[in-house]
Order: sequence, then structure tokens, then C-alpha cells
Amino acid sequence: MVQSDFLWGAAVAANQLEGAYLSDGRGVSNIDLLPYGKDRLAIAKGEMHYTCVSEDAYYPSHNAIHFYDKMKQDIELLHELGLKCFRFSISWSRIFPTGLEENPNEKGLSFYDELISELEKYNIEPIVTITHFDVPKGLMDHCGSWRSREMVNHYLKFTRVLFERFKDRVKYWISFNEINMLLHKPFTAAGITFEENEAKEQIIYQAAHYQMVASAYATKQLHEIDKNAKMGCMLAAGEFYPYSCNPVDIRRAQKDNQKNYYFVDVQARGSYPRWALKKIDLLGIDISPSDIKVLRENTVDYISFSYYASRTSKEDVSDVDTNTGNAAGGVVNPYLKRSEWGWMIDPLGFRITINSIWDRYQKPLFVVENGLGAQDLIDDHHQIEDDYRIEYLSQHISEMILCIEEDSIPIIGYTMWTAIDLVSASTGEMKKRYGLVYVDKDNEGNGTLRRVPKKSYSWYKKLIESSGKIR
Ligand code: BG6
Repeated sequence: MVQSDFLWGAAVAANQLEGAYLSDGRGVSNIDLLPYGKDRLAIAKGEMHYTCVSEDAYYPSHNAIHFYDKMKQDIELLHELGLKCFRFSISWSRIFPTGLEENPNEKGLSFYDELISELEKYNIEPIVTITHFDVPKGLMDHCGSWRSREMVNHYLKFTRVLFERFKDRVKYWISFNEINMLLHKPFTAAGITFEENEAKEQIIYQAAHYQMVASAYATKQLHEIDKNAKMGCMLAAGEFYPYSCNPVDIRRAQKDNQKNYYFVDVQARGSYPRWALKKIDLLGIDISPSDIKVLRENTVDYISFSYYASRTSKEDVSDVDTNTGNAAGGVVNPYLKRSEWGWMIDPLGFRITINSIWDRYQKPLFVVENGLGAQDLIDDHHQIEDDYRIEYLSQHISEMILCIEEDSIPIIGYTMWTAIDLVSASTGEMKKRYGLVYVDKDNEGNGTLRRVPKKSYSWYKKLIESSGKIR
């Protein structure tokens, strides 16, 4: 049975909804440099420099959905929805505008203070992601962001401020959103840009090591400051299936899964898997004895993850479609339906993935993202009949409930993506909507910003009221 204290909720990320990108002393962050349109993906992957875009480029994060100004009314809508928890992230450059200041920006901190107070008023548990695709530009300029060990200290200065300020008020923290996204989109995930002919792989795996060390020190810091609080890692999850029973495909899937679990292996078990030690040795990654110690002694308390789809691995991809829309790669799975953006839809894969993560780590799990990006149409009566989203969520939640009830896997909660329409991380579009609440804004930034609850909003409300029984 799903326990009555199960955390039903929804998730968002600062850079995708707050806007107000220079208000109250906030500094520019990496995501503020990602334009909407054709150059976005190349910049995200580190294949193009963000300064090379045209002068009239449009940057969707700058205003996003104006949550910074509309926070109270938006949280009220979430309260009416009956959320038990709300996952949001902190904009690092709101607290340390360039990342280099000695003291935090009080106005930035006050915003999150007020946000948490609003949640407390309505008995909604805050789940806080410390960085969700977020690095102050000041740190990119100063030391090349996470390619430098210096970042560990900048990060820990930031986390100390948060842990001390929100002690006893935030129980669940997440150190880095989708930490494995660094392997695929180093600019989005870690603010890293490359010079021509640089050893990209070496830089990426070095940055990965520094992020994991920072996360381990932050876990230690959190436990010292607030002994009841819990730190989670966060993985962009999704099982890699072999395309066929040909052993070469099985081996390809095994390797793809190992690569995907690279970060969580370290964060949950406290050491690098043996295959990875060989790789990082070959790459010449800087790892000190104190790094090894901090990683070993400060594993995470729980494992959080996003799940949108499974992935499929094939050794020879010459005769299949590789256009899956999934940053982690893979090929099209002929057994599955796809979303309007080509993402696979695989509810059973959700159960398979949850079981794999549990079997591998045996730590409490927290599903912190799952949802469907779709184009919603608002009809003449201002209704949005998003039955496709209800179907997606219902099927996935049913599989998660089977994990709890039949497979006996401990799951802390489920925060669907997302509470309210916001800017798509991969495409920068507004029309790729995931929300339970519609926001009147288009891809070019036009619209009244009016909020309209969709059909899925009422559906999710009933689901929460019934502890997941009515779905
Ligand atoms: C996850 C991210 O990768 O997927 C979110 O953590 C993102 O930030 C979500 O929005 C959905 O992806 P997209 O690219 O469709 O917005």
C-alpha cells in the first residue's frame, strides 16, 4: 500500500520559471546565455561558443514565466492542487551574483525564504535542488567553471549559506540535478565551454569528479549543520535495453548502463567502479587521497532520479533510426509509442528502471521528475483537455505503485514534471508543455502570462486525495 506520508508533488527548476534574471542583484548564469532556436543544442553540447549567436537572439530564461514576481499566486494554485511536496531549485547567481562574493546577496536569500514560508503556510514539504543546470557566469569567466578544482570551494560556500539559513526547514536536498547530463551537455549541466582541439572527454570526466567531490563535502556539511536533513544525488535515469539478443547488443546495453550509473555508483557506494578506475587513469584525472576519503565517507542518503523514457542500445546503428530526442543516446525502440518530440513512451520501463536502481544500490528512492511534453490547445471555453498527459502520468504512476506494492521497493515520493508550464530545458520552447497549469506565453515570449489549470490539474488533485488509488 502507498503510505499516507508518501510525498506526492511536482517539480520545477529556477532557470526555467523564475525570470527576473537581473532583479534584486542577481547575476547572469550559464542558462541565461542559451538562446531559443537553432544554436541552442550546439551550445548546450559545447560544440559552439555562446558568444557566436546572432545579436537579436532571444533568451527564454530571462523572463521565463515570471515566477519571481508571481510566486505567491502560483504557490496558492499548488496548494489548491493539494501537493504534499514541491521540488524547486535555487538560482546560484541570485545568492552569489558572480559566485566570487564573500557574502551572499540578502535579497536573493529572502526570495527563497519567502517561498519556503509560503510552502510552510500550506504544509507543503520543500524539496530543494541546490543546482539545476546552473552556474554563475562569473565563475565560468574566473576559472572555467567545473573544469577547475576551485569550484569545490565556491560550491561549498554556497551550500553552507543555504544549509545554515534553511536549517530545520528543508529536510530533502539534492546536490546536482541530473548529474550525468554533464556527459552529454557540458555547457547546460556545468557551464563548460571548450577551445578548439581541447581534450573534451578528459575535461568532462575531470569536471564530473569535482562535482562528485563537491557533492560529498556538501553531504558532510549538511549532516554537521542539520542532522535531520537528507542529501540525495539525482540521475537522469532510463534503462538501456539491448535492441536484440545478439550478444554484441547485450554488451552495448551493459556498457551504456554502466556509463549512465557512473555517478551514482560513486555517490551511493562511495567509490569508483573498477572499469571506471581504468578509464580515469587513462584520461589522467586529478584525484587526491582526500577526495577518495571524502567520497567514501559521505555517500548520499537517498537516490533521486528523473524518468521520461527507457533507451535502447544497438552495436550497429547503420540500419536503424537514432533520432530518439534523448540526450543519453540510443536508438528508436520499435515496440514503443513516441511523444510529439520523438521521446519514447514506456511506462513498464519505469518499473524496470526503478527495480534496477533499487537492486544496484538498496537506498531509498525518490522519483523527482516524470512527465509528458506536449502541445496543449486552449479551447473557446478556456479549457485544456490534456487527456494524453493524464494517460501518460496514470500509466507511469501505476507502474511505480506496483514497485511499492509488489516489489516492496521503498520510494519516498513522486514529483511529476511539472506543476506549471515553463521553458523547455532542451529546446527553449514554451510550446513543449509539461504543466498541470497552462501559462499563456509562446516560444517568442508573447502572451498574457495568464495561468489556467488544465484537466490534468483536477485529475492529479483527485489522485493525491485518494493516495494514488484514483488514477
Ligand atoms: C530534465 C530536466 O532533463 O528533463 C528538466 O531536469 C527538463 O530541466 C526536463 O525540463 C524535460 O526536458 P525538456 O528538455 O523537454 O524540457
